[in-house]
Amino acid sequence: TTPLIIDTDPGVDDAFALALAAASPEVELIGVTTVFGNVGLADTTRNALRLRALLGREDVPVAAGADRPLVHPHPHLSSAHGSDGLSGRAATLPEPTRGTDPRDAVTLMRELLEAADRPVTIVPIGPLTNVALLLAAHPRLKEKIGRLVVMGGGVDGGNITAAAEFNLWSDPEAARRVLVEEDVPTTVVPMDLTHRCAVTAEWLAELGRTSARAAALVGLTADYLTTYRRFLGFDGIVVHDAVAVAEAIRPGLLTGTPYAVDVDCTFGPGRGALVVDRRLESRAPGNLTVATDTDLDGVRAFLFERLSSL
Ligand code: BDR
Ligand code: CA
Repeated sequence: TTPLIIDTDPGVDDAFALALAAASPEVELIGVTTVFGNVGLADTTRNALRLRALLGREDVPVAAGADRPLVHPHPHLSSAHGSDGLSGRAATLPEPTRGTDPRDAVTLMRELLEAADRPVTIVPIGPLTNVALLLAAHPRLKEKIGRLVVMGGGVDGGNITAAAEFNLWSDPEAARRVLVEEDVPTTVVPMDLTHRCAVTAEWLAELGRTSARAAALVGLTADYLTTYRRFLGFDGIVVHDAVAVAEAIRPGLLTGTPYAVDVDCTFGPGRGALVVDRRLESRAPGNLTVATDTDLDGVRAFLFERLSSL
């Protein structure tokens, strides 16, 4: 089994991502770290604790991390996930019996990496602030990271601005540090591909019938469904973060292309955009690949199989 750390800002699709990890024997979820993002840090951390309780995994430490971007003020949170980040339904989840770990997110990640006897996979599915801080403060621990699987960026445009995807836009300086300046084996799972893996309202309803836990998870999608109906005219949701966790569970599930990338840290209309160099002559196998394709029905079937075993 691969030790796994999820750095998250729950978030409805983050909830699906955490559930997927908890339901998958190929990985051992050894830690969850929280970051501001879809909602503020206090809310993302509360949501992580309640989701951990729902999933019956209160053995996994949850540590709170950054409450704002590294350098510049955060323009605004997301409105896509409802008032509390879980479609206004956080209070319907079980009351946690354990609180947050006394360590902060970076310290927890550091100690888990130090103690690991195998390469650890880290899956950042929110703004990259915590991971940038970890790599900046403890460069020697890079050796202990087998792989980063990052949900973020868009190859062909964004969702929070015309150019930028929400996670990268939320802290472009942190994203640049992690994706461009550091040299850790990384797979970027951009929104182009996660959108193609979207699941329908019917798929969700069927999943909800499989168990009480799955029903609770599906219950969190109400406002998120409204968001997709309103903005994309689509009756379903995009489970962005769960697609990244799926790749961490089954390496190679997504097909990657070794693109060179940058992150726009300027203050123009491109701020926060993932700049992907798609020129053929720029392609060289490096440490970073962008996930560009997959068996879409296969991914949906994998998600369903695992989440229906909750
Ligand atoms: C990303 O932004 C968040 O709203 C989602 O949880 C996901 O991590 C998609 O752009
Ligand atoms: Ca997220």
